[in-house]
Amino acid sequence: MIYLDSAATSFHRPPEVEQAVLHAMHFFGNPGRGAHAPTLDAARTVYDTRVRLAELFGAEDPSRIAFSCNATEALNTAIFGLFHPGDHVITTVCEHNSVLRPLYLLERQGVEVTRVGTVKEKDEAIKKDETGKKGDAEGVFGMVKSGRLDYGMLEQSLQKNTKAFVLAHASNLTGNVADILRIGKFAHENGLLFVVDASQSAGTLPIDVQKQNIDVLCFTGHKGLMGPQGTGGLYVREGVSIAPLKSGGSGIKSYEKEHPKEMPTALEAGTLNAHGIAGLNAAAAFIQKTGIQNIHRREMKLANRFLDGLMRIPNVKLYGDLAAKERVPIVTFNIGDYDSSTVSDWLWEDYGICVRAGAHCAPLMHLALGTQKQGAVRASFSYFNTEDEIDTAIEAVRELAK
Ligand code: ALA
Repeated sequence: MIYLDSAATSFHRPPEVEQAVLHAMHFFGNPGRGAHAPTLDAARTVYDTRVRLAELFGAEDPSRIAFSCNATEALNTAIFGLFHPGDHVITTVCEHNSVLRPLYLLERQGVEVTRVGTVKEKDEAIKKDETGKKGDAEGVFGMVKSGRLDYGMLEQSLQKNTKAFVLAHASNLTGNVADILRIGKFAHENGLLFVVDASQSAGTLPIDVQKQNIDVLCFTGHKGLMGPQGTGGLYVREGVSIAPLKSGGSGIKSYEKEHPKEMPTALEAGTLNAHGIAGLNAAAAFIQKTGIQNIHRREMKLANRFLDGLMRIPNVKLYGDLAAKERVPIVTFNIGDYDSSTVSDWLWEDYGICVRAGAHCAPLMHLALGTQKQGAVRASFSYFNTEDEIDTAIEAVRELAK
């Protein structure tokens, strides 16, 4: 089997992750709910994980990191906890349903939303022949749609009641990386909160919430961070207050009628997934030891190898801003007019290759790319994939395209 679906969830993980989860299942009590050795062991690991994540994201203080069970929960916490009827929010068509759907719901309650679109463009022909040389009109092999954000829409999106910009750092469909410095600067110059969905970038791209002016960073633990499913969280800048989605057990201030307001307890009601967080801790330690730049370089080398191979196959259409300086390791394509699910089924059944197809929970991006009916085949790469796997996958696509 060749696993090329790391944007959906990591599959090949550092072995320490599994060992840490197993250790936690044997030795952990409930973190923050007592003072015996098992509960203290769990609490120390949870705290150590906050410290690692704060280091990875450049957060000012580990207590500003609250855990959740995934990025969707983190984004729901931020969106429902920050915006009220009468507020205006700017977002983009690149967003995942974990941002789109909470905002649709709030729109029905009186929150105004503006969605920045993508630049209008014609299909760009890939002019490369089988040898990789530039071709002429006859040698055109495929088409690219970039799905690039239209930054020209920023200023005109502002309103008097604009409260925030909610942005996917990287698109889960195209692998495009938003110009986070530019939008963070725009947000802060205009007094807006900057809420970033780092589902496809945490653990893959360097993030620095201070330098990038990020007020709230929502992340998942099981994709680029290589931890177990059921882990994730949010960074909340000091001074930003988010009304909690849940209230309940906190292990402290038990006689008070309201859930405690101090971070991180404010956003962590109920028992944490300490077993999963132990795995995330080991994964974050691996990332720190290996270096996020080294991980990103390796992942992009594999993604670009696949991309180069696909560019030479007639009848393959590609999606994404492929010439951009910064991307995440996602290559999205279609073969002719074949339904993307059919192509991914063939890849799995005939070649044992795992990719994702269909709508990717990013409906507006599909509308922008014109792929709402066909969907798109997405291959996504991890640090642990090999060059041989990439070459086998290219040959499989070449055979199917024939
Ligand atoms: N949101 C995940 C993906 O893009 C599951 O596949």
